[in-house]
Amino acid sequence: ATTSSTTAYPIFSHLPPLPQVSKADPASSVFDAFRIAIASSIAKAVPDLTVEQVYEGVDYGKKGVDFTVALPRFRLKEKPDVTGKKVLAEFKADEWIESVVAQGPFLHYQLNTATLFREVLTQIHQLTNETEKPLYGTSKIGEGKKVIIEYSSPNIAKQFHVGHLRSTIIGQFLSNVYSACGWEVIAMNYLGDWGTQFGLIAVGFERYGSEEALKVDAIKHLYDVYVKINAEAEKDPEVRVEAAKWFKRMEDGDETALVNWRKWRELSVKKYTEEYAALNVRFDVYTGESQVGKESQAQALARLEEMGLISDVEGAKLIDLEKWKLQKAVVRKKDGTSIYLTRDIGGAIERYEKYKFDKMIYVVASQQDLHLAQFFKVLQLLEYPWANTLEHVNYGLVQGMSTRKGTAVFLADIIREAGNVMHDQMKKNKEKYEAVEDPEGTSKEIGITAVKVQDMQAKRINNYVFNWDRMTTFEGDTGPYLQYAHVRVSSISRKNPSLHPLPPPSQINTSLLTSHPKAREIAILLGSYPDVVKTALKTHEPSGVVTFAMRLSHAISGAWDVLGVKSEVDKGDLESARARMWLYLSARDVLGASMRLLSLTPLERM
Ligand code: ARG
Repeated sequence: ATTSSTTAYPIFSHLPPLPQVSKADPASSVFDAFRIAIASSIAKAVPDLTVEQVYEGVDYGKKGVDFTVALPRFRLKEKPDVTGKKVLAEFKADEWIESVVAQGPFLHYQLNTATLFREVLTQIHQLTNETEKPLYGTSKIGEGKKVIIEYSSPNIAKQFHVGHLRSTIIGQFLSNVYSACGWEVIAMNYLGDWGTQFGLIAVGFERYGSEEALKVDAIKHLYDVYVKINAEAEKDPEVRVEAAKWFKRMEDGDETALVNWRKWRELSVKKYTEEYAALNVRFDVYTGESQVGKESQAQALARLEEMGLISDVEGAKLIDLEKWKLQKAVVRKKDGTSIYLTRDIGGAIERYEKYKFDKMIYVVASQQDLHLAQFFKVLQLLEYPWANTLEHVNYGLVQGMSTRKGTAVFLADIIREAGNVMHDQMKKNKEKYEAVEDPEGTSKEIGITAVKVQDMQAKRINNYVFNWDRMTTFEGDTGPYLQYAHVRVSSISRKNPSLHPLPPPSQINTSLLTSHPKAREIAILLGSYPDVVKTALKTHEPSGVVTFAMRLSHAISGAWDVLGVKSEVDKGDLESARARMWLYLSARDVLGASMRLLSLTPLERM
């Protein structure tokens, strides 16, 4: 409990001094500064507590309260209400904190409203407008650290199903969040491009393959071949025998068995890359099961054998993980060919050797919980120190995704269908529709937003039902609503050209905003954005960011009627008009940032 008359944070030298707190970074989050102010006022009154300790205990308040401190968490000898009284007795309102009230063992704080507006808006402005890349909401917590995020990972020649779509959406979100927090991110796509099914496709390609069709749409054609040969294999067991032989030749590196496969892979990657681009999804590395070396798998198996964990069952090798309640699993087939599990083991080892990551995340459906737990466990048993940095980000099922016609779904179909459904939806409002400049492009973008928002809206572990109608309305908390909110707040600037350019922040009178509760609500939300990003980094949940974007959109539309800009211009009160405009521009920037974090493209017009 120390006091100091000089501030640890020179950017706030015009305000009462703040002591240094190691975990705080007021230069990227004004709320950190407010939290320090609260913590230091408590620490001053309670000699047993340090500012650092109290800082950890400053939480968001419930409705109508900015911040709350729950005193019992500090486990002091005296009763919380005794501590509370001391704090109240010592409290002096200043330019950081307006007031404190005690309620049982809780202390509720209100921030100084004038400071709130001025500092939050200034920070957004500095970090957004004066830099090439908008920086508000970003931080350097991950600086110097490297994370591999593996996501999407579809199987070539099989359907790109909803499971892959979810992995793609959630994975890209995580990739954005880690980058925003200063991590070096390696976005990795681990294709299902190896395994017995490629022997099957090879056999099928000899019978049904067409180079022509392959060029037009490799993904679709290979899938067609796969479906046909599968049906045949059902009737004739010989087909599978032939397929296994073929795959064995591939595993043995027989070039004649590999030429076609190489082409399929290349064409599929090309096609996927295009489709991902339409979704704002990008990868640094396309790898796949085929790329995992034999040696790393063999070495891992040899070590497991030495450790006495492997048993031979009719020529196949089995690992016993019953001790960890992870069942038994085959790690090597009878004919010596590798399998999914073993490739993941070898793949992880190779990735560490190559990238020396600090952390590796696998975004894979919860249906594969056991698989992931098994290979994580094996890597731990092999005593790789980095095995504990692996993390499985899982998610629930999506029910009922198909196009409206109900046909098999490919990624390209979903993207197209999203655009079509949205286009139909927009046509319902003839007047609005006619004002749209680029209806096709716009509806595609909103359609994609609809699909993504529906996917990221709830906790990822929840299942949900894919519903075109519900996700594409403009009412309720949907993707289209978000886009609409962004368009509307963007239009303010266009509609008031006489206010441009706005003067520098120091010349905008933000005190004209302080008496409007609706405006204050916006300012609080804007101030909380850096925390929203940090929480997403911890929880790996996109839903918190979706909720934030929805709340901000609601707050903006709630302010609309009471805080007009044009009305002030018409009245001739330009000072007030400018202050309001600045608030909306800041809200637009932060809403846009949160949407981009979700991999959406915020629209300016629709
Ligand atoms: N390709 C797999 C599938 O579609 C998903 C791969 C997940 N990642 C992994 N490292 N196993 O089921």
